[in-house]
Amino acid sequence: MKIAHISDLHLSGKHFVEEWGENLIKILNSKNLDLVIITGDLTDDGYMHEYEIAEKFVDRIGIEKLIVPGNHDARNKGYEIFEEVFGERNKFYENDEIILLGMDSSEPDIDDGHIGRENYKIIENKLKGNKIKIFALHHHIIPIPGTGRERNILIDAGDILKICIEHEIDFVLSGHKHLPWVWKLNKTYFITTGTACSNRLKGKSYPSFNIIEISENIIVNEVNVKSGKERKIIETNIK
Ligand SMILES: [Fe+2]
Ligand SMILES: [Fe+2]
Repeated sequence: MKIAHISDLHLSGKHFVEEWGENLIKILNSKNLDLVIITGDLTDDGYMHEYEIAEKFVDRIGIEKLIVPGNHDARNKGYEIFEEVFGERNKFYENDEIILLGMDSSEPDIDDGHIGRENYKIIENKLKGNKIKIFALHHHIIPIPGTGRERNILIDAGDILKICIEHEIDFVLSGHKHLPWVWKLNKTYFITTGTACSNRLKGKSYPSFNIIEISENIIVNEVNVKSGKERKIIETNIK
């Protein structure tokens, strides 16, 4: 199966680049994908009119989607509108190959990430078994190099990290930092994807997203949304 992981679209603000947005839709719709995971920050401030823009954009991606909110989407009671437009803030998906849990790591009107003790058991109970286990959330769990002074990392990052490692979650997918990076700790890959179509880029980086292809091996390719070029970032035979 083939999954795209996109994040930080910021579709309604002054940093959204229309050309990159169009490229993104074109590339996604041409890749024979089975699922698109969106890890938040679809809007800038969570307002109703921004969600309307986000909904229209996301509808143009003709593929099944699993969407969780980011800190920007939770602003101004946007978390309520998120539920109306994109469904529950936590999401679950399972097929023959993967088990995927998407969780809301945002807190209303602050930028910090947070999962919360009440959710630890849910992660443990949902993400078990022999299938490929994927946990998706907006915030990063491990600091990302080149993104300046550390802030907004999950405030309970230590506990979540321990759960991910002990339960041998295969992939943890996040965004928020607008800079792609991969950490591997024990058996778990922690993949942060870049911003898909906003110009809030770090240094000379470019808008991007990742495609995870699960067959004999698992291959993760980073796609440059500006040029359309792909670059292999992970190849593993964890199955
Ligand atoms: Fe963002
Ligand atoms: Fe964010």
